[in-house]
Amino acid sequence: MTPLGTFYGIGVGPGEIGLIPVAAWEIVQKCDAIFVPRATSQDASTAKQCLPKNNIAADRFHEIEFDMSCDHSALESRYTAMAATIAELLRQGKSVAYLTLGDSMTYSTFNYALRAVRAVCPEAPWKVFPGVTSFAALAAATGQTLGEGKERVQILPCPEDMEVLSRVICSNHLVVLMKVGHRLPGVLALLQRMDLLSHTVLGSRVGMSDEALLTDLRGIIGKQPSGYLATLLIRNPAPTIL
Ligand SMILES: C[S@@+](CC[C@H](N)C(=O)[O-])C[C@H]1O[C@@H](n2cnc3c(N)ncnc32)[C@H](O)[C@@H]1O
Repeated sequence: MTPLGTFYGIGVGPGEIGLIPVAAWEIVQKCDAIFVPRATSQDASTAKQCLPKNNIAADRFHEIEFDMSCDHSALESRYTAMAATIAELLRQGKSVAYLTLGDSMTYSTFNYALRAVRAVCPEAPWKVFPGVTSFAALAAATGQTLGEGKERVQILPCPEDMEVLSRVICSNHLVVLMKVGHRLPGVLALLQRMDLLSHTVLGSRVGMSDEALLTDLRGIIGKQPSGYLATLLIRNPAPTIL
C-alpha cells in the first residue's frame, strides 16, 4: 500500500518576499502540490507572491479562490471540497503544502483547511511551520515593542462596536488591532476622542511594495487610508489596573 503523503501548513510573508523559515522553504520546494489561497478581490495570491524567487513548475501550484465576504457555511463547504482534493493527493502518496499569509495558526484560513483535511483523511500525517505574524512584522518595521516587562498585550480582530474597543484599550498597555477593514474611520475617531492618535502605529500592506507605515496618526483624520490588510498597534500609557 502506498504510504500517505504529508499535509504541510506553511506561513509566508506576510508581505516581504522571502520571509519564510528555511526549513519550511525546503519543504515547499519538494512538495508535489502547493495550494495557494487567493481572495476574490485580488488578482493574484498574496501568499504565493511572498515566496522567494524560484523555478517551481506552474502546474504544482493550485490556486484556490475564496470570497471572504461569504457566510461561514459557504466558506466551510468551499474548504470541504478543497479538502477532498487534497485528501485524494495524500492517498496517492503525494505531499501537499498549503501557503498562508503570516503565521499559519493566527487568524489564518489554514486553520479551516487543516480541520477539513483532518476530518476527511484523519490518518494522514501533517506538520505546521509557523510564520511571522503581521503584528510582529509591523513592530519590527516601526521599531515598536510588543510588550516589555509585565505589560499586558491584547490581540483582537476589530469589533464593530467602538465602545467594546474602548474598554479593551483602557485595560491594556498595548492593543494589537487586526482585521480593521471598513471600520478604520470609526477606530480613528475613537482614538482621537481617547487622545491616543500619537500613541498609535498603523501598518498597511507591511512588507509589500506599496506598504504604508504611520507612526503617529495625528493628521490622518479625514484622509481615510485603506483598512484592508492593515494592523494597528495602540499603546495606552496609563491603563486601568484590573
Ligand atoms: C486573516 S488575518 C491573517 C493573519 C495572519 N495569519 C497573521 O499571522 O498576521 C488578516 C489580517 O492580518 C493582518 N495582516 C495580514 N497581512 C498584513 C500585512 N502585510 N500588513 C498589515 N497587516 C496584515 C490584517 O490585520 C488583516 O486584516
